[in-house]
Amino acid sequence: MRVLVTGAAGSIGRVVTTGLAAAGHEVVGLDLVPPPDGTPFPWHEADCADADAVEAVFAEQRLDAVVHLAGIPEEASLPDELTSHVVTTAALLDAMVAHDVPRIVYASSNHAVGRTPRADGVLTEHALPRPDTYYGVAKVAAEALLHLFADRHDIDAVACRIGSFLEEPASLRGLSTWLSPDDCVRMVEAALTTPAPGYAVLYGISANTRAWWDLEPGRRLGYEPQDDAEAYADRVEAGPDDETEAAHVGGPYATAAFHRPALGA
Ligand SMILES: NC(=O)c1ccc[n+]([C@@H]2O[C@H](COP(=O)([O-])OP(=O)(O)OC[C@H]3O[C@@H](n4cnc5c(N)ncnc54)[C@H](O)[C@@H]3O)[C@@H](O)[C@H]2O)c1
Repeated sequence: MRVLVTGAAGSIGRVVTTGLAAAGHEVVGLDLVPPPDGTPFPWHEADCADADAVEAVFAEQRLDAVVHLAGIPEEASLPDELTSHVVTTAALLDAMVAHDVPRIVYASSNHAVGRTPRADGVLTEHALPRPDTYYGVAKVAAEALLHLFADRHDIDAVACRIGSFLEEPASLRGLSTWLSPDDCVRMVEAALTTPAPGYAVLYGISANTRAWWDLEPGRRLGYEPQDDAEAYADRVEAGPDDETEAAHVGGPYATAAFHRPALGA
C-alpha cells in the first residue's frame, strides 16, 4: 500500500513510518518540520490544517491510504485543539474524496472518553463521548467527522483511541494503558489492511495484564497486541496521584488541574 503518514516526524510517526516501510508498504511522510536525516521516502513539509497544501500533496502523490498522526498531543486552548485535530482531519478527508483514497487510520485518544469512570467497568467501543479536556473534545469531533465521511462517502475510517505510547510504561496507570512501539505498528497495519471496516473504533493499548479497556474491537480488526506492560511492573514506582489517576479513563487529564476557560489564554 502507498500510505501518507501525517505527523511523520513525531514520536509515533517515526516508529510507524519505519514499521510500515519494513512491512513492505510505500510511505510518504508529511509534517510541519523537515524530515529526520536519512529519511528514505518522499516527504512533504506542509500544514495539514491548510486545505490547499493538503490538496497539493494529494495531487502529486498516488495514495491508497492515510495514517493521520499530525496534531498537538496534549491539552491546549479549544480553538487550537479544534484546528489541530478537526480542521486537519477535514482537509485530509476532502482530499481523500477528491482523489478516491479509500481509507484513513486516525490517532484518536482515550481522552475522547477520558471522563468515563473506572467504576463503570470494562471500557468498550460503545462508551459515549465523554472527553476530559479540550484535547478530548477535539478528538471526539474528529471521530464524528470520520464517521460522517464513512457514511456519506464510503470511506473506511478506523479511529484508534491510543493509550500511553512510550518505550516502556512510566506510571501505575501506564501498566493498564501502555501501547508499546511494536504493538503500535501492529495496530496501524491491522487498521490499514483489515477488509472493509467501515467506521470502526479500537483501543490502542498493548496486551497489558492490568488492561480494563476492551481489546476485542481491535482483535476483530486483526490487531493482536503482543506486549504486556507487566514485564516492566518492577521498575514502575508508586506515585502520589496513582489513586486519582486510576479513577477515570483519562487519568491525570480527568482531574481539576486541567480546568480552564474554553476561550481563555
Ligand atoms: N503519544 C501518545 O501517547 C498519544 C496518545 C493518544 C493519542 N495520541 C495522538 O497521536 C498523534 C501523534 O502523537 P505523538 O505523540 O507522536 O505527538 P508528537 O508531538 O511527537 O508528533 C506530532 C507530529 O505532528 C506534527 N504536526 C503537528 N501539527 C501538524 C500540522 N497541523 N500539520 C502537519 N504536521 C503537524 C508535529 O510537527 C509532530 O512532528 C497525535 O494526534 C496525538 O494526539 C498520542
